[in-house]
Amino acid sequence: MLKSTLIKAAQAAGNLIQERINGKFTIEFKDGPNNLVTEVDKASEALIMDIIRKEFPDHFILSEEIGEIKMDSAYKWIIDPIDGTINFANGIPLCCVSIGIEKNEEMIMGAVYNPMMNEFFIAEKGQGAFLNDRRLEVSKQHKVKHACLVTGFPYTYLDVPNGPLEVFSRLIREGIPVRRLGSAAIDLCWVAAGRFDGFYEHKLMAWDSAAGFLMVEEAGGKVTDFKGHQYSPYQPHIVATNGKIHDELLKWISNTHN
Ligand code: IPD
Ligand code: CA
Ligand code: CA
Repeated sequence: MLKSTLIKAAQAAGNLIQERINGKFTIEFKDGPNNLVTEVDKASEALIMDIIRKEFPDHFILSEEIGEIKMDSAYKWIIDPIDGTINFANGIPLCCVSIGIEKNEEMIMGAVYNPMMNEFFIAEKGQGAFLNDRRLEVSKQHKVKHACLVTGFPYTYLDVPNGPLEVFSRLIREGIPVRRLGSAAIDLCWVAAGRFDGFYEHKLMAWDSAAGFLMVEEAGGKVTDFKGHQYSPYQPHIVATNGKIHDELLKWISNTHN
């Protein structure tokens, strides 16, 4: 029932995203001039919450636009109603819905759906990760110098040592391709699918990575914070790779690779 509700909610939200991506919608601004939310983010969130609460009215919910609906439950749904909102608002078909489910503080299931590419990703703890019906496996690349990477940048620039632009320029100066798609959930799914060898980002929220990090782990990859410690979606830093380039990528990020 948990899994079918997860699929139903992600499908409904994905269909809505697809219906509305090239249409008209109102836009509001959150903390910065570029951190926006559209009426479709809110409609997607409402649709997902309705579906979950019909089946599981006592489950805890954490969702980007509405915040926390605290419940005394072992289960917590972590929702990003549109990941890649700027892409969505510009009609760029690289955006998705992302939903993760924790049980007793452990991520047990996640779904990410990009309807514009007809790509539905789902992962279940211990059961693997799938794109539509195909089982996913991370890539085999062993060297950062030959890797294809992806990253993202926060809405408000982080001026810290080894910050986003510093790490980006360190890699780009060596000619290493680092893409920037604009949706962390898709970035993570594409690492799981072997399209990217690794992903890192300096400032994510739990809803950006909840489903995607399980996808990478279940496809045989590795996900940690910048120190190589076990990943928690409740802290900002993420490195998610095929496992083989993981330790080396951590060194590039901390500038200890030479
Ligand atoms: C954003 C995207 C983007 C990442 C930002 C996130 P949103 O989420 O995942 O790739 O770089 O840090 O905030 O705002 O589109 O849901
Ligand atoms: Ca997001
Ligand atoms: Ca969002």
